[in-house]
Amino acid sequence: MKKLSLSLFVIAARLASAQTDSTPTSNAPEAAPADTNAPSAIPALQIDAGKVIGTVSPTLYGLMTEEINYSYEGGLYGELIRNRSFMVNPGWPIYWQVVGNPSVVLDRNQPLNSALNVSLKVDASAASEKAPEGIANGGYWGIPVRPDTTYRASFYSKSDNSHRPLTVALVSTNGKTIFASAKVPSISSDWQKYSVTLKTKNVQPSMDNVLEIFATTPGTIWFQQVSLFPPTFDNQPNGFRPDIMELLAAMQPRFLRFPGGNYLEGNTIQERFDWKKTIGPVEDRPGHKSPWGYWSTDGLGLLEYLEWCQDLHMQPVLAVYAGYSLGGQHITPGPDLAPYVQDALDEIEYVTGDTSTKWGAKRAKDGHPAPFPLGCLEVGNEDYNRASEYDGRFTQFYDAIKAKYSNLQVIATAPVTSRTPDLIDEHYYRSQEDMEANALQYDKRPRTGPKVFVGEWATRVGSPVPNMAGALGDAAWMTGMERNSDLIVMASYAPLFVNVSKLTGQDRSMQWTTDLIGYDALTSYGSPSYYAQVMFGTMHGNEILATDSQNIPTREWQPRAVRGRTPPPQQIRQIFFDATRDRQSGIIYLKVVNEAGAAQTVNVQITGTSTIQPDGEAVVLAASSPEDTNSIGQPRNIVPHTEEVHGLSAHFTREFLPYSITVLKLQTK
Ligand code: AHR
Repeated sequence: MKKLSLSLFVIAARLASAQTDSTPTSNAPEAAPADTNAPSAIPALQIDAGKVIGTVSPTLYGLMTEEINYSYEGGLYGELIRNRSFMVNPGWPIYWQVVGNPSVVLDRNQPLNSALNVSLKVDASAASEKAPEGIANGGYWGIPVRPDTTYRASFYSKSDNSHRPLTVALVSTNGKTIFASAKVPSISSDWQKYSVTLKTKNVQPSMDNVLEIFATTPGTIWFQQVSLFPPTFDNQPNGFRPDIMELLAAMQPRFLRFPGGNYLEGNTIQERFDWKKTIGPVEDRPGHKSPWGYWSTDGLGLLEYLEWCQDLHMQPVLAVYAGYSLGGQHITPGPDLAPYVQDALDEIEYVTGDTSTKWGAKRAKDGHPAPFPLGCLEVGNEDYNRASEYDGRFTQFYDAIKAKYSNLQVIATAPVTSRTPDLIDEHYYRSQEDMEANALQYDKRPRTGPKVFVGEWATRVGSPVPNMAGALGDAAWMTGMERNSDLIVMASYAPLFVNVSKLTGQDRSMQWTTDLIGYDALTSYGSPSYYAQVMFGTMHGNEILATDSQNIPTREWQPRAVRGRTPPPQQIRQIFFDATRDRQSGIIYLKVVNEAGAAQTVNVQITGTSTIQPDGEAVVLAASSPEDTNSIGQPRNIVPHTEEVHGLSAHFTREFLPYSITVLKLQTK
């Protein structure tokens, strides 16, 4: 193992806004110093507690979300019925089965309304007590049944005979177990909504189940929006899955960037996130196709995003459609773009307006009279890949937004020249080595341009979720973001969610590998990267301390060829770190990432403070192999553990475990 001495940091130069230090911009060995290969030199990390080089952005750690990998449908959104409104209708009612032997067709002549313009006609003319006939739905790769749980089932229906009763039942797929059932005494000959509760007894949790609705007397019944909700987070109607919300809450995220990502743009203009079609009663929302290849009911629409923010005390970072869709359709700046700009202004008013405004009143009518706070807004997504007209489109949005909402921070998704955006959104999807090789990339970024929002980033190693190698790359990268969080004011990993029920093949539940949180119908789990984020997001101070290092071990890495040219090999660091301090409590949070497969004994030297208490605490995430991971079967294989640490002082030595991420809490008061 080679030793390399690298002077890491920006020190106080950042404060003086002149970069005079010798901070390397990469881990390239050009700075190889005199003591390279000194075998006895052990790595040394220095913290100057007398030198605060910046403020940790209070909004540094947040979430980014979109409908991908069945993030909401079959994920966070509590609905358990798949294709509840039959809007996925390639000629037949996909994801629906029959009970008994009725004739079932999609009927466009009996729509519920103009949004849900098709219904399911069930001709149950042979139905009897002994041979019931009806429909069944197996949910998103299963329907979770838990003990002593109350479910709310509802559906719109009409029949050819208003005396016709229906039974609603939660049943195992093999039909052997009826977990709960309820009767609707009669179905009107006009469309009506029917609701029942289904309460399970003390049963084993399972998910190989279906919801059945069937008749025991002959006749014809039409259905629309068949819904089944388990208890939701905070028992909110049309709400969220509690286990996933609790995983998110543990991250203490400060903001939510929504809705996407590609999901904002859609494959066509028609399939963009058209926010006005995602609000109001759920039966008035037509839904739309996500660019990730499946249908979104938009049951989780604009208001639900905002309520999600409210539930987890996150600031909304609202992304507005900017006139470009992924298939290449785009709107030329000028009069053609004006209606889309107006849509964005209306959207801001829906979020922030009081009830005297048109869209604020609409929000109140939708159930939320109080305006939501909104500090920043993003125009588009990844427009550096998109039509060259972004500068013009951005300018038109920027001017209109600033004219009405001068305090709103406006984020650009690509460099623009006509206006100066308040923030610029930068995205990074990289290998572990690439992430580590670039972990110091912001140390030398001049502080003269816009602030940075790292709106999507991930070390893409591991599937469906990142493994420990991914977590190590992520943690190395996060030390760089935290150290530079005077510049990087917000950052969010992506993608956030994956339904792990069907990872490959047609109709799969995963469209993008390496996602932070996995789940099936019944349970959910955090990846090693998730736990790294919990550690970083919940344990940091508000002051960035000056640091330096010597004798950091390195390993050789061969970057991939670019356009047929193979770059020279690089030496990449094996230890990454940063230090922040909480001004009030005096706790220094020293984060150390050891990406090597061997334990590293490290000297830690702290100057600029008269006190380091001998007793502290360490929170450690470690694995025995970089491939180690968590899964639906082993959800807590890699989780952080907390230990007391003794014998701390201004100079101490600690052995950092192989493949580990450590947060050391040092008390200075
Ligand atoms: O996170 C997955 C996708 O990656 C996002 O939708 C898009 O913005 C990026 O290219």
